[in-house]
Amino acid sequence: MEDNQSVHGEWSGRLAFILAATGSAVGLGNIWKFPYVTGENGGGAFVLLYLLCIVLIGIPVLMAEILIGRRGRQTPHRSIGALANESGAGVHWSWFGLMGVACSFLLLSFYVVIAGWAVAYVVFAVTGQFSGESADNIGGMFNNFIGDWKVLMGWSTLVTVLTTYIVARGVSKGLEKAVMFMMPGLGAILLILVGYALSQGEFMHGFSFLFQPDFSKLNFDSAIVALGHAFFTLSLASGVMIAYGSYLPRNVSIAKTSLIIAVTDTAVALVAGMAIFPIVFQYALDPSAGPGLIFVTLPIAFGQMPLGTIFGALFFIMLSFAAFTSAISLLEPSAALIIEKFSLTRGKAAIFAGGLIWLASIPHALSFNELAFETPFGPDYVGVFGIVDYLTANILLPLGGLCIALFVGWKIKDEFSRRELDDVADAHFNLWRLTLRFIAPVLIIVVFLNGLGFLKFTPGAPPEEEPALEQPLEPAEEQVAEAG
Ligand code: PHE
Repeated sequence: MEDNQSVHGEWSGRLAFILAATGSAVGLGNIWKFPYVTGENGGGAFVLLYLLCIVLIGIPVLMAEILIGRRGRQTPHRSIGALANESGAGVHWSWFGLMGVACSFLLLSFYVVIAGWAVAYVVFAVTGQFSGESADNIGGMFNNFIGDWKVLMGWSTLVTVLTTYIVARGVSKGLEKAVMFMMPGLGAILLILVGYALSQGEFMHGFSFLFQPDFSKLNFDSAIVALGHAFFTLSLASGVMIAYGSYLPRNVSIAKTSLIIAVTDTAVALVAGMAIFPIVFQYALDPSAGPGLIFVTLPIAFGQMPLGTIFGALFFIMLSFAAFTSAISLLEPSAALIIEKFSLTRGKAAIFAGGLIWLASIPHALSFNELAFETPFGPDYVGVFGIVDYLTANILLPLGGLCIALFVGWKIKDEFSRRELDDVADAHFNLWRLTLRFIAPVLIIVVFLNGLGFLKFTPGAPPEEEPALEQPLEPAEEQVAEAG
């Protein structure tokens, strides 16, 4: 079965796949979410947990997903079903493929809303709306902006339409063309911004915040957030890497490309952190400001720095590129599923899926204004957005990852996985399988039990101490000082 090609298309080669998969991995997760979850979980110690999750769980699961895709050559659940079949495992395994597709749908439903913020902020930056504004005004601008759900829907509709258009055009004409110019653009802009941060006084402050672990700063939930974020940032357990793997040519090394994707993704998050935190500290802003962090703190800095309009525009263009290459990957599993299930053309399937996403995005746009109710998950998780964000990243993705690790580790016959990883040395192959069989599942289960309160490994704040509702717009001076 390994020599055929997916009916949905194929990448033109290794580079196209690497760019597309890295494009999927590098997204809002790296530039929007990583900084604020790191800020809220105290910096270095959280980064360490996150890196451990990437190495011990993320990379092995990433390899497993690409392997499933390339061997199965179909939509996630059918690929899993086909592999289960050839290895004599039960067909029920294919259910978690469907769960993955459901996750990608849920993720995209709020992803387009936040991506809409990024695109809107390109326009705000280009039209000079940050220049010379006080912190209060810029905070007010953000609050006004997210306070109007119709405006949010306007921007997210734009994102949804563009994403749908690219997916409708197909693997090589749409997805590949888009990432081929967006990914290098993103890399270049990021380097310019780090260059700026390096030239500023607070670079070392930002650097030590990211890399000096202080375990007393971890919250009760930190481990689960780190684990969930590792899955989210590598686009795992959402059907995406299985779908992308199914378009991968036979002669490409799964192990090497997985490493490249994971290292690039991690590097972008860390480098983005190094570009963002020095600015946060330079202007005495609050690193734990929550989802508004980069939209509130950075524009204050852009409004005051020389050439801030240009840097601001570059930053939000980069964020939009990153968001688009991930959004198209999030739509792909649903579109491919609709093509298979209803025998629609790719164009029609993409429009159908895009239409459903548009509908599903409405409650998220309402989560920051009309329907902004508190949820039990803490101050960052407001409204429907908060519930879906928490459920997907912190519960469904790790659960899906657990299933993948167990399935590929225990159920797929060695001869098949060996054939997909034929360039890997025996010792490395065994290590990979061992990780999937024991290390990743045990870690995921321990983190879960910890998160549910059955085990109390996490130092720092006890669970009863719910973090107080944060005011994203008022920099908490003590926290900034503490972080130093
Ligand atoms: N990895 C993307 C990011 O970091 C989000 C994503 C999750 C994309 C799951 C595809 C699948 O922003």
